[in-house]
Amino acid sequence: MESFELLARRRESCRAYDPDRRPTREQLTKCVAVAQNAPSACNSQPWSVVAVNSEAMTAAVAPCLQTAGLNRFASACPAFFIVTEEPARLMRRFEGSIDSQHYAQMDVGIAAAHLCLAAEDMGLSTCIIGSFDEEMLRGAVSALEGRGPVRLVIAVGYAASDARREKSRKPLETVLTYVE
Ligand SMILES: Cc1cc2nc3c(=O)[nH]c(=O)nc-3n(C[C@H](O)[C@H](O)[C@H](O)COP(=O)(O)O)c2cc1C
Repeated sequence: MESFELLARRRESCRAYDPDRRPTREQLTKCVAVAQNAPSACNSQPWSVVAVNSEAMTAAVAPCLQTAGLNRFASACPAFFIVTEEPARLMRRFEGSIDSQHYAQMDVGIAAAHLCLAAEDMGLSTCIIGSFDEEMLRGAVSALEGRGPVRLVIAVGYAASDARREKSRKPLETVLTYVE
C-alpha cells in the first residue's frame, strides 16, 4: 500500500509482459474485490468481469483484440479481464426521466480504473483495451453468454520491465478552471 499519488503516477498502460509470470487466480480475484468498492450511480454496480487466465484461453482472446490491426502485444498477455455492462437499477425517483443505463458506461469506466489501480497496487501492470471484435470475443469465451455488452478488456500481468515512460498529459491549466 502506497500513497494514491504515487500509484496514479506510476500506473501506465503496459504493452510488454513477462511471459514467465502469470498472475494467480487469487491475485485476479483480489483486483476485482478491490474494484468493487468503486462508486456507481445509485450504487447499481452495473458491471461484471470475466477473468481469463489460462494459456489456452488467453490465446483464444488475443486475436479478438487485434482485428483492427491494433494490440499485437495482446498475443503475449498472460491474463485478461473482460468487463461487461449489466442492467442498472436506478432509484425510483429517476424512473421515467433518465434511462436506466444512462450512467452505466461511466460506472464501467470508473470500475475499470479501480481495477487497474488495484492491480498496480499489487505489483501487476495493466492495459485497458477498447478495440475488439465483440462477436468474435463472444464466440471465443462461452462465459460471456447471457452477459451484457462487452465494454472493455483489460490486459493484466507482470511488466517485462520496471522502467516507466514519461507521462504525456495536457497542461494542468488547460483542464482545470477555478471559479472563485
Ligand atoms: C477506453 C480506453 C480504451 C483504450 N484502448 C486501447 C487499445 O485498444 N489498445 C491500447 O494499446 N491502449 C488502449 N488504451 C490505453 C490508452 O492508449 C492509454 O491509457 C493512454 O494513451 C494514456 O497512457 P497511459 O495509460 O500509459 O498513461 C485505452 C484506454 C482507454 C481508457
